[in-house]
Amino acid sequence: MGRKIILTGSTGKLGSVVLKHLLKTLPPTDLIVSVYNPNGHQELKSKGVDVRAGNFDHPESLVSTYKGGDALFLVSLPSRDDKYRIKSQSQAIDAAKKAGVKHIYYTSLAFPDGSEANVMKAHFATEDYIKQSGLNYTIIREGSYMESYPVYLGLYDTSSDKVVVPGDGKVAFADRAELGEATAKIIASGEYVDETVTLTGDKAYSLKETTEILSSILQKKIEFHKVSTEEFLEHNADKYEVAEWWATSYPTLESGGLGVVDPALERLLGRKPRDFTEMLRETLSNRTAGDQELSEWSSH
Ligand SMILES: NC(=O)c1ccc[n+]([C@@H]2O[C@H](COP(=O)([O-])OP(=O)(O)OC[C@H]3O[C@@H](n4cnc5c(N)ncnc54)[C@H](OP(=O)(O)O)[C@@H]3O)[C@@H](O)[C@H]2O)c1
Repeated sequence: MGRKIILTGSTGKLGSVVLKHLLKTLPPTDLIVSVYNPNGHQELKSKGVDVRAGNFDHPESLVSTYKGGDALFLVSLPSRDDKYRIKSQSQAIDAAKKAGVKHIYYTSLAFPDGSEANVMKAHFATEDYIKQSGLNYTIIREGSYMESYPVYLGLYDTSSDKVVVPGDGKVAFADRAELGEATAKIIASGEYVDETVTLTGDKAYSLKETTEILSSILQKKIEFHKVSTEEFLEHNADKYEVAEWWATSYPTLESGGLGVVDPALERLLGRKPRDFTEMLRETLSNRTAGDQELSEWSSH
């Protein structure tokens, strides 16, 4: 019998891909899937996967959920509420420790150390909490999802002819499915102990370049405007709160912090990561996909 790995976030878009790939490489009986609602999931159960109830908001039940596991794959919560995110994730780490788990894998985000972006507050706090827990860890700084391009383009609505951003810089976007595949390889390998691994695409594009690519795919002129933060917030008055929160990411972008290309994703996949332009072309043939990502993201 190998290590027993507890997986969170398996009902989500990243975690479901991680689970799919782990099922290709590890015996299903080595996996414990912790989900909000354990009813159903018949296909997984029939394969021998242990499906258990696990909600970060109910810490008292998490210790028994994580019992028998050697490693915990902790998918960061989808929330802009830093306090809630830090508290819930810390509770999950405490419960894992109490349950005898020895190793935490955490999905952080590929922003550089020292970034003042709000999106990194809970990630940095959780990374530190894990490191101080005394458990072994692997921090996986997942690249900016290609699917999130409307968010980076200043909460851009694909029906609009104008991209308005309070800063520009390159972003090494990565495909979420490939990030999931590589993350599964990291977990299955049992290596990368007490390491931080950064996964990014193999090419970085500025927001201006991304706008030009969009223009050419959609065959319409899309204006690119780099404006002040005040003008950006004015432009997004209808979603002021999320815009104000997200605006703190642009100084990191301007300083080139998101344009750094790390070879780890390509090495783990054993092939070139998916091309951003090709992915955009595919996504835009289904115009609603980007808008859906944006509205999901704004609602958390
Ligand atoms: N790298 C990037 O560019 C980027 C972009 C956006 C988000 N993210 C981060 O990456 C994470 C994974 O992305 P994704 O696209 O897979 O997100 P997603 O599809 O929204 O999945 C989030 C997962 O978290 C689970 N979850 C939510 N609340 C929970 C709770 N209280 N207790 C236990 N589990 C809970 C959800 O379970 P249920 O289905 O049961 O609710 C779901 O499985 C996100 O949560 C977010 O932190 C990264």
